[in-house]
Amino acid sequence: MTDKTHAVDHITGHRRMRRNRKADWTRRLVRENALTVDDLIWPVFVVPGTNIVDPIAAMPGVNRMSVDKLVEAAKEAAALGIPAIATFPNIEMDLRDVTGSQILERENLINKATAAIKKAVPEIGVITDVALDPFTSHGHDGILRDGIIVNDETVELVARAAVIQADAGSDIIAPSEMMDGRIGAIREALDAAGHQNVGIMSYATKFSSGHYGPYREAISTGGLLKGDKNSYYIDPANGTEAIRDAALDVEEGADMLMVKPGLPYLDIVWRMKQEFGLPVFAYQVSGEYSMVKAAAANGWIDGQRVMMEQLLCFKRAGCDGILTYFAPEVAKILSKA
Ligand code: PBG
Repeated sequence: MTDKTHAVDHITGHRRMRRNRKADWTRRLVRENALTVDDLIWPVFVVPGTNIVDPIAAMPGVNRMSVDKLVEAAKEAAALGIPAIATFPNIEMDLRDVTGSQILERENLINKATAAIKKAVPEIGVITDVALDPFTSHGHDGILRDGIIVNDETVELVARAAVIQADAGSDIIAPSEMMDGRIGAIREALDAAGHQNVGIMSYATKFSSGHYGPYREAISTGGLLKGDKNSYYIDPANGTEAIRDAALDVEEGADMLMVKPGLPYLDIVWRMKQEFGLPVFAYQVSGEYSMVKAAAANGWIDGQRVMMEQLLCFKRAGCDGILTYFAPEVAKILSKA
């Protein structure tokens, strides 16, 4: 037994990882994570008008919907067991201006959608964003002055918009514009308006990513955007900075945290979950969706298999849930399983 090779054989002979993998039943028995319908948040796009279901070229299977159609879709989502939807508006170009003033209109597209959904399908959660980009003529998330996105004025506006969205029935305010101090300001404004039970899901770590392209097509901001968002979104190179940013949001009163984009940033999900213990979500963004769909359309990958695998990997990384355009497709598969 002094022979080294023999000793190694001896050890491996007793420690065989494959015993637990040998049959379907053992694999099921030792499986550590599972994706369920309760993990899904469905992001949807709203357009003005009625009876509109308008396909988005870069996102096969995803449509912009008028409020009436969105209500139908929300009903179907609720029937499938999807807990919540997140709405994004594509408003008329002539309503977009430098300060994104439409966001403060009580009857704007997003508030109309919220009210209609909550009336028809009260059991589904509605999550609304307060970033200005769908409402500005320059496609930026905040007020643009002399080439700078001004922080504090944007925060004031965003906090007012949050109250208006809550008044319309929004259950969770999800600020995605990455201004400093916004979570505290939104919490204060909501509480002052009597909205103590409206939650805040912070887009705590939103990276300046190339994965948002198809979304910008979906809400028609791509052609408008002047410059980039590097002065307010996080540099994809920075993990520790992302954790510091999230820590401020936790201190300021965020109820839930989000990482965006998803798959390339699972290390951030893991770190945030360990660090804060708050519910952590990831946004599998438009570009991630489109990449899977495009490769599948070419026959290069098995799209359904990759979709299910990727979503499971979000769970393994520590996600409590995932914002995903795949939500209805996945919910249908899970309900058959
Ligand atoms: C901006 C916003 C973005 C997304 C949602 N809200 C990013 C951007 O346009 O810069 C991206 C969502 C996606 O790509 O699916 N507040």
